[in-house]
Amino acid sequence: MPGKLPPEFLQELLSRVDIVDVIRNQVPLKKYGREFRASCPFHTERTPSFYVSPAKQFYHCFGCGESGTAISFLMKYSNLRFMDAIEELASIAGMEIPKNRTAGPSMGNTARLIQLMEEVQAAYKRELLRSDPESHVKSYFKNRGFKQKSAMHFGIGFAPERWDFILKKFGRSESDRSLLRKAGLVIRNDKGREYDRFRNRLMFPIHDRRGRVIAFGGRVLDSSEPKYLNSPETVLFRKSNELFGLFHAAKAIKDEGKAIIVEGYTDVLSLHQSGIENAVATLGTATTSYHIRELFRATDEIVFCFDGDRPGKIAAWRAMKSALTMMYDGRLVGFVFLPKGHDPDSFVRQNGTAEFQQLISNCEPIAEFIFRQLKGSADINRADGIGKLIKDITPILTQLPDSTLRELMKNELRKITGLSEDYLKKKFAPEVSHKRQVQTKLNKHDLSNRALALLIQNPSLSQLVEQAEHLIEFRRGQNSRLLVEVLSKLKANPGLNTAALIEEYRGTELFELVRTFADLEHFVPEDGLLEEFIGIIAKIEKLGNRHTARSKISELMKESRSSLEDAAKIQELLVESRKAKTKSFS
Ligand code: UTP
Ligand code: MN
Repeated sequence: MPGKLPPEFLQELLSRVDIVDVIRNQVPLKKYGREFRASCPFHTERTPSFYVSPAKQFYHCFGCGESGTAISFLMKYSNLRFMDAIEELASIAGMEIPKNRTAGPSMGNTARLIQLMEEVQAAYKRELLRSDPESHVKSYFKNRGFKQKSAMHFGIGFAPERWDFILKKFGRSESDRSLLRKAGLVIRNDKGREYDRFRNRLMFPIHDRRGRVIAFGGRVLDSSEPKYLNSPETVLFRKSNELFGLFHAAKAIKDEGKAIIVEGYTDVLSLHQSGIENAVATLGTATTSYHIRELFRATDEIVFCFDGDRPGKIAAWRAMKSALTMMYDGRLVGFVFLPKGHDPDSFVRQNGTAEFQQLISNCEPIAEFIFRQLKGSADINRADGIGKLIKDITPILTQLPDSTLRELMKNELRKITGLSEDYLKKKFAPEVSHKRQVQTKLNKHDLSNRALALLIQNPSLSQLVEQAEHLIEFRRGQNSRLLVEVLSKLKANPGLNTAALIEEYRGTELFELVRTFADLEHFVPEDGLLEEFIGIIAKIEKLGNRHTARSKISELMKESRSSLEDAAKIQELLVESRKAKTKSFS
């Protein structure tokens, strides 16, 4: 659960990491005044409207309205959970995540689940090692040419043919069994009977990129169906986010400067045995943009290796589409289609490492692949065929960032179609940006709102206010309580920057509001900030005094002991309240 980490830790973390570095790792940023700018990674656009502010440690897109801190960025861009984003940032900052935090239920569970997964993997591994050399699993393993060494390397194991192997070992109490169900290792049927999900299967552990076991894929040892059974989606495991073998391939991918994506567990295993260690596999799903992002973190070149059949072509086309928005200059994407009937495993076995490497280095570059496919489905010798080509290529060109690749593809298109540059320019004009509406809902003239925007964007302003608490009397503005709260927080903790402040609210209902204030346009120039802020606070104080005076009057009236003394007091208060009124609007 967010918010369970000590606030000091979050604050320290967000002051140590620079959001500019975090984002620049994924998106090329250009200096723009005091900020940095880029084409928004969250929607497709021609003109950059994505801004990163080093001062606020905050990003914001004026096109789609996405905004947030370094933590939000990693959560959104890399599809990480809160704690994973924290871990990523902590490793950049060289910080340890505090262990003695007050663990919320879900956090404790995650840690327990991971521990369970690793223990289960160890048990599967022991079963494989321990099994008789003549056993069907050992024979299967040997017959496929897999070596003991690679089994050890990838942590492969064996789930014996029993319905309660895991259940017996790890499910003694109901709470243990509940954990086993959460981990997807045990299934409970309609009748309430529980049994192991994986039985009589070769077990491939799936690691996250930090090397923790988060799921399994289990292969049958004969030709029964389904051939592979995978862990279901759990709190630990999102299938479309993970790549089999990434943890083990990470170093080779860096060293080679290239990642190969294949389709199967055994392809990775086999390639690794043949000395090709930079291969990873999707988990029976299409290649997603998360996969590609993940690999582009480690390298600039990705080669997809698919079977040469029709499903392979379809998979390649989908993979291409997921890569488009990330094709900045410097990045390379290519496609390899294996000869009919082959997958990487069988190919490398039959033809050897060198020939496989040859295929990889002769891969078809993304632009060639796109044109070849499009020309295959549209006859460019006919005017209507060209119309179809243009229709098909439009979504591709509009998704590509402003890059050399895009420019050259447009040139190529001009050449093959004979259409004029003007025509194509109009055809692929930038989309109209759609500004998000949230901000307009806030009354920007409300004093508390103005104060909040200035304060959250410039936390040091808090030091100008002597004490926050006496502003509490002022309860009329919708967000005045929040103002007092934010001021108190900042006064108690002057080191909070905008990002750390926002993160203090994550998981609460105020999170969105605080984030909105962090990029609310206030139109106050930098050198007028102090004055403006002091002015607003003074007005709020006066309004507050008036309010206090009023409520005191009504209190006295209610008591209605209209002694002479009270009448004098009321008179005094009325004068005071009127004074405050005229001043605050002068
Ligand atoms: P393949 O059928 O190509 O399997 O599926 P493979 O990896 O070549 O396996 P071997 O060589 O026959 O042992 C490719 C991938 O699709 C997923 C698995 O991730 C597999 O590695 N898959 C396939 C499933 O999830 N379930 C299935 O039933 C089949
Ligand atoms: Mn295979």
